[in-house]
Amino acid sequence: MYSIEVRNLSFKYKNMEANVLNQVNFQVKPGETVAIVGKSGSGKSTLCNCLCGLIPKVYPGELSGDIFINGKNIKDLSHAEIVTSIGIIFQNPSTQLFSPTIEDELAFGPENLCVDREEIGSRIEKILKVINMEEYRYHNPNHLSGGQQQLVAIASVLMLNPSILICDEIMSWIDREGKEIIKNLLLQLKEEGKTIILVDHEAENIQIADRIIQLGEK
Ligand SMILES: Nc1ncnc2c1ncn2[C@@H]1O[C@H](COP(=O)(O)OP(=O)(O)O)[C@@H](O)[C@H]1O
Ligand SMILES: [Mg+2]
Repeated sequence: MYSIEVRNLSFKYKNMEANVLNQVNFQVKPGETVAIVGKSGSGKSTLCNCLCGLIPKVYPGELSGDIFINGKNIKDLSHAEIVTSIGIIFQNPSTQLFSPTIEDELAFGPENLCVDREEIGSRIEKILKVINMEEYRYHNPNHLSGGQQQLVAIASVLMLNPSILICDEIMSWIDREGKEIIKNLLLQLKEEGKTIILVDHEAENIQIADRIIQLGEK
């Protein structure tokens, strides 16, 4: 079974004339790290948003074709099933962080899914260790560096323990030191067996990819 299978996926945003995605087909095996590259405007973010269900729920339009996540058609998955299978991290971490403390930020997703308090507490401890930010538990995410904010954004996604991570240009606002730390974290997650989709245009940020999918023309 594939982690992700995309069959004949096409999408056109509402009120736009042209398709952004045209008959896209690919498969990603469990534990694979796949980079998606393409020119600016080639539809990389649109594809990511289809894979995690934001399209068509949040961004409407004409969608055709099928997406299977761990063998199940995304159309048949509930919101809770999607967020516990596939997590997405965006370019600008501050758009993903909105709680007064890191602890609250990390608790938000599982609280929404009614995970019990003890379990949430133990996940927070574990995830803070993974990102090496245990001493920041009660800090305000707004006071962190961009790299640290991105680590917290990744951590908040990991709190739901998805088997698939989508990283949509997550390095582009991060300084060199932050990039190194995030790259190492992604490598660790890859070694743990996560399936990872990396969207990035810098070769050094996709070194850990097993293969590359080109979207649109080169
Ligand atoms: N919400 C939206 N509504 C209408 N058009 C959009 C929207 N988001 C992106 N687009 C258009 O879709 C095309 C692909 O955008 P995007 O998926 O962001 O590409 P990439 O991530 O590869 O730069 C672009 O032409 C962009 O202007
Ligand atoms: Mg994009």
